[in-house]
Amino acid sequence: MSFLNPKNLFLNHQVVEKNATLLLVLSFVVVTIGGIVEIVPLFYLQNTIEKVDGMRPYTPLELAGRNIYVREGCYVCHSQMIRPFRDEVERYGHYSLAAESMYDHPFQWGSKRTGPDLARVGGRYSDEWHVAHLTDPRAVVPESIMPTYGFLAQTPLDTSMIAGDLKTNRIVGVPYTEDMIADAAADLRAQADPNMDPTGLQARYPKANARDFDGNPGEITEMDALVAYLQMLGTLVDVDSYTPAPSAKQDANP
Ligand code: HEC
Repeated sequence: MSFLNPKNLFLNHQVVEKNATLLLVLSFVVVTIGGIVEIVPLFYLQNTIEKVDGMRPYTPLELAGRNIYVREGCYVCHSQMIRPFRDEVERYGHYSLAAESMYDHPFQWGSKRTGPDLARVGGRYSDEWHVAHLTDPRAVVPESIMPTYGFLAQTPLDTSMIAGDLKTNRIVGVPYTEDMIADAAADLRAQADPNMDPTGLQARYPKANARDFDGNPGEITEMDALVAYLQMLGTLVDVDSYTPAPSAKQDANP
């Protein structure tokens, strides 16, 4: 091939350097090959998402809270992805597993951390703390620069679209059952209203916390939903009992 002949190679390379369109086309070909090599194996691997116990879809109330989280742009300052670095693991807990965000549409990964990572914030503070913090962050953390979200406690939660929301998530692969969709509005109410019986909810969604989250038992507000969501983050999977699958090499040398 004369093109690859070392004598011609230098001259031929000048052609590429002097022709912007050709350079663009060839760069595109190189990037495409690189992309295919990286992406295609992921479709054939069995274990891009590790098997863990405890993962379940969000309850309707948690899903509503997550929608508020996305609507308010909390992700602009907070990530939900603990990277496997020592400083992060010591501060936030076990690094995030892929399985923990497999029902997230859209995902909340990232490295933009004006505020701390929230992947394992569930159960770390009381509901009262979250309500006080969201209402006026400076009341509990004087140096905080987080905006105030007190209006959430005054805004009744719009539950009219919740069943449709579960259905939409099912289209993109979240395993919501017919029962879950049919009972979505009732399950939402049962999780935040202390006068209702949460047994059905907890049978469908194990480990669902059911209580009044915002300190105002009368009405279900956006604050109830957001706090319910924050309080479940990172609490479903028992990460300390998770051991990564040993590689073939480790198997040979126990
Ligand atoms: C402008 C950036 C910014 C935005 C937007 C923001 N936060 Fe924060 N957040 C912070 C900062 C900074 C801190 C750390 C200081 C503090 O605790 O207030 C923080 C702390 C927190 C904490 C405590 C975390 C911990 O481990 O101590 C929670 C929970 C939280 N934010 C939730 C939210 C939620 C929910 C929203 C959206 C409704 C939100 N934040 C929006 C900046 C932000």
